Amino acid sequence: MIVTIANPKGGTGKTTLVRALSGTAAHAGNDVHLIDADSRANTMRWVSMSKQMDLWPDRLKAESCLDSNAIYNIALQRQQEGKIVFVDIEGTTNENLFAGLYCADIVLIPLQTTQDDVVAGMQLALNHIPVIEEDRKRKLPALIVINQHDLVIGRAKVHEPLREILRESGVAMASRPIARRVAYQSIGAAGTLQTVAKSDSKAIAEMETLLEELLTLYRSRVDEATQ
Ligand SMILES: Nc1ncnc2c1ncn2[C@@H]1O[C@H](COP(=O)(O)OP(=O)(O)OP(=O)(O)O)[C@@H](O)[C@H]1O
Ligand SMILES: [Mg+2]
Repeated sequence: MIVTIANPKGGTGKTTLVRALSGTAAHAGNDVHLIDADSRANTMRWVSMSKQMDLWPDRLKAESCLDSNAIYNIALQRQQEGKIVFVDIEGTTNENLFAGLYCADIVLIPLQTTQDDVVAGMQLALNHIPVIEEDRKRKLPALIVINQHDLVIGRAKVHEPLREILRESGVAMASRPIARRVAYQSIGAAGTLQTVAKSDSKAIAEMETLLEELLTLYRSRVDEATQ
């Protein structure tokens, strides 16, 4: 399974979710490969810091790929080796975004319920992805996940109109939003949710649920293709 995490809008939580999900998948016993397609290569610094601090999961490998052909070819190659592949795309519209979409089995689109994030995520799902599907003659399921969801109920209500727009757009949404949690911030420097000193079982449960949803979606697509 190749999951590309994308939203052309910056700062929606792509890198955070790639790290949290790839750590969770590795911790569950899968061989996982993370492709850092962001030219700032922050993830490679996170890898070395995590290794230095002995916070690196055994089954996780990561590499930086800054060329669109390399992103596409390496993602497919790692998948053929039996790995779960996550591709972290930078928050802009460039060739690397399209390479990440072309090779993907699923596109995960994190967004906060702000107008800019929602518009960018919906443009990706409703304008760009259908073009890719048409071109490669294969479905490309997209899953929107609301990130940095406010745990204070009164504040979350403010975002209800945008959530309604998302629901009406017809793009699939993850069953649960991802809450704003310190645990997600803490993997910004080093470690995964499972290896940091102070683990947060709620954040881990959120990532396990999201991973399971991605795997279920992937399996259903594979079954459809083989029927
Ligand atoms: N669920 C969350 N809870 C708390 N903080 C979060 C959460 N998700 C992301 N953040 C924080 O939000 C900021 C932006 O997140 P991140 O770098 O993952 O976004 P991005 O989409 O990868 O950005 P870019 O488009 O620049 O690559 C980071 O400081 C990160 O720690
Ligand atoms: Mg990023």
